[in-house]
Amino acid sequence: MIKLGVNVDHVATVRQARRTAFPSPTEAARLAEQAGADGITAHLREDRRHIQDFDIFEIGRAIQIPLNLEMAATDQMIDFALHVRPEKVCLVPEKREELTTEGGLDVRGNLKEITKSVERLAKVGIEVSLFVDPETGQIEAASKTGAPFIELHTGKYAESEADDRKNRLQKLIRAGEEAHRLGLRINAGHGLNYDNTQAVLGVPHLVELNIGHAIVSEAVLTGMVAAVRRMKEIIASSAFVRQVADSK
Ligand code: PXP
Repeated sequence: MIKLGVNVDHVATVRQARRTAFPSPTEAARLAEQAGADGITAHLREDRRHIQDFDIFEIGRAIQIPLNLEMAATDQMIDFALHVRPEKVCLVPEKREELTTEGGLDVRGNLKEITKSVERLAKVGIEVSLFVDPETGQIEAASKTGAPFIELHTGKYAESEADDRKNRLQKLIRAGEEAHRLGLRINAGHGLNYDNTQAVLGVPHLVELNIGHAIVSEAVLTGMVAAVRRMKEIIASSAFVRQVADSK
């Protein structure tokens, strides 16, 4: 069965909005594991806008399933990964001003540097994947780096209008076939949600999907009823305490 990696970045986004200790991405990772997630993904961005360094250590200690550290292929981040030793690393491009990872990694244009990064990580047993657009040139380049996995960028498919959707899906399917032929293993992710994920399961040779924003969003809404009820209970019980105090 195709595996599900749950990305907990946006639990940290809510926490960082107030710089409090909650909600905890580690706790979210634990709950995701309980619910059957096959892996947890967290993206430690250069600007630390959501996940912080300590989250990576904490999540790694809290879960039994593999931790997939998403990060830029900079020397600093590679050093960090060698220190933390997650089971997996997904190398992604990163721009400070972007809202989220916008495009795939330019493996073809940075073959030497990316190959070096893959070698440093692989040397200590970290399984590396390269986040790439479903383009022949990038997939061929990825196969030359020694990385065992690519993660196909599904963002353009996810954002496509109805008239372009079939075409975007075809691109992913062809990319899956091509990557498999070149001996790569295939993950996919970005922008997948409860409506558009099923069609992506048609991409051949898929090992794992990485999904974050849609799952965290769903969790916020499905948890709302219980969250409000719990606060109402606290208020109701304090009203009772006040009544008792006033009657004395
Ligand atoms: N895969 C990669 C490489 C990503 O950069 C992201 C976003 O952090 C995801 C998967 C998950 O994307 P989303 O949050 O849209 O599900």
